[in-house]
Amino acid sequence: MSASSPAPIRLGVNIDHVATVRNARGGSHPDPVRAALLAQDAGADGITAHLREDRRHIRDADLERLRAELAIPLNMEMAATEEMTAIATRLRPHACCLVPERRQEVTTEGGLDVHGQAQALAPRITRLRDAGIRVSLFIDPDVVQIEMAARLGAAVVELHTGAYADAADDTAHATELGRLTTGAAHAARCGLEVHAGHGLSYANVAPVAALPQVMELNIGHFLIGQAIFDGLPAVIRHMKALMRAARA
Ligand code: PXP
Repeated sequence: MSASSPAPIRLGVNIDHVATVRNARGGSHPDPVRAALLAQDAGADGITAHLREDRRHIRDADLERLRAELAIPLNMEMAATEEMTAIATRLRPHACCLVPERRQEVTTEGGLDVHGQAQALAPRITRLRDAGIRVSLFIDPDVVQIEMAARLGAAVVELHTGAYADAADDTAHATELGRLTTGAAHAARCGLEVHAGHGLSYANVAPVAALPQVMELNIGHFLIGQAIFDGLPAVIRHMKALMRAARA
């Protein structure tokens, strides 16, 4: 790569749903760490795992093994609680992505209210940073959230693409893509590295991957679901090809 060419966009593979299937029968199959290693071999640039407070999918022992066995960066998704901060600062993953968490939700709904919870978040972010962990905040593409993320010292914002992915019609799709476009540019101007994720698939990834400030996409549900039909390595290779093509 020449000095002037931008870094290629990265794919973070979220393996939570492998653990969901494993936990459905209470045994050890399928092993999410094996899936992570397979993803790594297929070209994933990072692995994301969400240790939820209720441990509904990823468990503490999974994270320990991921930390020990992966050669690519581990991004630990977590709620900004004392318990999770203590686990993260002991484990020291490459990055922590702070997300809102409610027990009843099916998946992460909406971004973190960084602006409203700034006081509570600030000491947690500082502790994670002091442990050498790159802090990412999962937020909606709103100016107030982006600016507060920068003020709190986050290195990264991950823009929530759920509203874009769920847009019911062309107008809503254009509106949500516009918010992501503006948000990504604003975050980069604030000095933040920009990631994006939630609800991305072969069908909708290209416009987000094409945003020049977006350095990484984190994708889980679609990849793991599609792997049932095509196998995880093929699915990862195809998603990366779509991302790179959109960028070019
Ligand atoms: N990024 C974050 C912060 C998330 O919480 C999730 C869902 O766990 C994802 C990305 C991936 O979303 P999906 O599973 O819909 O691809």
